[in-house]
Amino acid sequence: MSSILRIALQKSGRLSEDSYQLFKECGIRFDYGTGKLKSVSSNFPAEFLFLRDDDIPGYVEDGVADLGIVGENVAVESTHQIETVHRLGFSKCRLSLAIPRGTDWNGIQDLNGKSIATSYPRILGNYLSEQQVSAEIHEISGSVEIAPGIGLAEAICDIVSSGSTLLSNGLKEVETIFRSEAILIARPTLEDEKQSLLNKLLFRIKAVQAAKN
Ligand code: PRP
Ligand code: ZN
Ligand code: MG
Repeated sequence: MSSILRIALQKSGRLSEDSYQLFKECGIRFDYGTGKLKSVSSNFPAEFLFLRDDDIPGYVEDGVADLGIVGENVAVESTHQIETVHRLGFSKCRLSLAIPRGTDWNGIQDLNGKSIATSYPRILGNYLSEQQVSAEIHEISGSVEIAPGIGLAEAICDIVSSGSTLLSNGLKEVETIFRSEAILIARPTLEDEKQSLLNKLLFRIKAVQAAKN
């Protein structure tokens, strides 16, 4: 039986369009943006699955997908056993602390005894303990920027790209704790046939990247 690579991409979000463009530039064709959650390439032994980005590390660990494209932020926060195969250089963003715009800021120690809403409790928790700050971490899975406005937390820690979400929610960025970009992840051990397909794919990705530099 000839094997096929199953590749998980973000269904809709910051990584989706750039991920699709990467494969397009690699000459790999598949249906995208049709609402279908699965699409087989017409000219490369690959099948694409469109999923929520946060679920991708788990699917890759479980073998539902062989590869995935996620933000490094999602991969580092996840506890799943996955391997970073290659850095992709797009969808750059940062994970930052932000507080209401009218609030004073004298440094990270200001967060002692405060509560912080985030979808990244592990990355934030590590950062706070490095900085010897003791704050309560309030984990929420989305719309984190609303938290200070509804009295749920005094600060937030979330992904910032253009900064427009912070701006429209009356928040100011005070500290960057992690810088992220899209990465290609895989199961730590792939079967030989899948590994050789991955090698072909990597060869094309590197050629595309080299042409841009
Ligand atoms: C992040 C973050 C904000 C937005 C910030 O979401 O949670 O909602 O991007 O971007 P901006 O600075 O350009 O306004 P993400 O794309 O990670 O999606 P998700 O939280 O739905 O997974
Ligand atoms: Zn997400
Ligand atoms: Mg978000």
